[in-house]
Amino acid sequence: MNDHLMNTYARLPVSFERGEGAWLWDESGKRYLDAISGLGVTALGHAHPTVAEVIADQARLLMHTANIVRIPWQEKLGAKLAEISGLDRAFIGNSGTEAIECALKIVRLAGHARGIALPGVIVMENSFHGRTLAALSATGSGKVQAGFEPLVGGFERVPFNDLSAVEKIAAVPNEITAILVEPIQGEAGIQVPDTGYLAGLRRVCDAEGWLLIFDEIQSGLCRTGRWYAYQHEEAIPDILTSAKALANGFPIGACLARVEAAELLTPGRHGSTFGGNPLACRTACTVLDIMRHEHLADRAGALGARMLADLRQRLESRSPVVSIRGRGLMIGIELDREIEDFKALALERGLLLNVTRSKVIRLLPPLIIDEDQADEIVATVSTLVESLD
Ligand SMILES: Cc1ncc(COP(=O)(O)O)c(C=O)c1O
Repeated sequence: MNDHLMNTYARLPVSFERGEGAWLWDESGKRYLDAISGLGVTALGHAHPTVAEVIADQARLLMHTANIVRIPWQEKLGAKLAEISGLDRAFIGNSGTEAIECALKIVRLAGHARGIALPGVIVMENSFHGRTLAALSATGSGKVQAGFEPLVGGFERVPFNDLSAVEKIAAVPNEITAILVEPIQGEAGIQVPDTGYLAGLRRVCDAEGWLLIFDEIQSGLCRTGRWYAYQHEEAIPDILTSAKALANGFPIGACLARVEAAELLTPGRHGSTFGGNPLACRTACTVLDIMRHEHLADRAGALGARMLADLRQRLESRSPVVSIRGRGLMIGIELDREIEDFKALALERGLLLNVTRSKVIRLLPPLIIDEDQADEIVATVSTLVESLD
């Protein structure tokens, strides 16, 4: 069946024919509750009527022109992203990893402008930033990097949530130009740092003249109860990467920056054929409008808090459970054992979820789930975890 596809994914033995809201249907007509949103992408649920209509309308009008001309929908999207993030300017690409590449290219320019020949970036253990060569070199996972050496240089790795490790680097002569960090680590198993960590990183960056880059490709766009997770703290980054939910499944990614950093990119220094075309940008504008009008950040915050409380009440004392953590609708349940078959067991019960780091059940449901669906996710996951006890 897969003879003509590169074998890059361990796929579950199911495929879906259609979706509606948080529901998916496979080819036999069986219904599943989606607790992973295509890895944090379909925040508005499947087949959202307004999004579908906008895509169809724009496809009939004008899909693509390339960036050799002005693209009004890209300009509108830039303004909306600036408003929700507090940053100034956007570069629109097609994926998360491309947004990271853009951020890292700005870092190189910033370092060179300061006379640093080999600008370094502090990155975190267990981080994930994508699969292009620079992004995987920044990523804190031997599994992601293995076989792709030589890696891109210039990354200095420290433990996540350890401000003193960063301060130690700052205390001695160095060529660091930036810190790159996920405000909540996703692939690492939903790791939420201590309050004050992000603000502490901001203080170090201000003192050292480093750029602070937040990778909110997974945690951003209302999932944690704010537009971006850093907005839970007083810590605005210099550069922000955002993708996944931005167009609810239409491929897009954005690198946002404060004006001083953004201005380092001048015509000809960066680009993308597809990036920021009218179809992608109008879709993203629509998604952001819906998120705002439907108060999805508040909804994700409240529903997520309720799910976390329910999961803790039901599972915290169970022996396989190491920790239940998260923020908003970004939830991880770490067990004391490898649970690779957990996804298949959940699927049998009509629930689509994900396992990361082999031991962490990851829940990233659509932000539009209702209370009953949230309860169903909690009940099914709890029953399955209890059956391991
Ligand atoms: C935090 C983070 N950064 C970067 C990426 C890469 O994004 P993409 O797969 O769109 O290239 C991901 C994807 O999971 C992510 O979670």
